[in-house]
Amino acid sequence: MKLVADKDSREFYLGESTKRIREVAGIEEVTISQYLNSYGRIKDVEVAKMLFSVIVDTIVHRENMKAVKRVLNELIKLEKTLQEKKRVLSEKDAEEMKKAIEKHLRIEKYMASFYRELSEDLNQPEVLRDIRIFQANEELHHKILENLLKYYL
Ligand SMILES: [Fe+2]
Repeated sequence: MKLVADKDSREFYLGESTKRIREVAGIEEVTISQYLNSYGRIKDVEVAKMLFSVIVDTIVHRENMKAVKRVLNELIKLEKTLQEKKRVLSEKDAEEMKKAIEKHLRIEKYMASFYRELSEDLNQPEVLRDIRIFQANEELHHKILENLLKYYL
């Protein structure tokens, strides 16, 4: 993978990735319909089970690629707004930030426990790994926000 430090190249790189991801999501889509077609014609249960697992993985790939594409699009927009920020913070802003952070600390805590409970309930390995990663992300967000709150105290 090419690492690009300067902003315009990074933007170009993200744009190119978005295009390629769209293509791949399309390929996954076509592949799924072809697999489903074959799956419908299979009579033997053992053969059907093998193809079943491939179909489920392919569905997970398609949906993840669609999500990654949307994430990259939002990331490009968000990075542009970050470049416009300065280092200015009034007392009023700090007070508002503290309140907002405290609210989000509760949300992150709830989300972490939600993903933990969901991972305990689900037994589909195709999605379980992602759910566990989300749980770890939410725990990390909680820690980041705790540190951010200290910054405003
Ligand atoms: Fe979060």
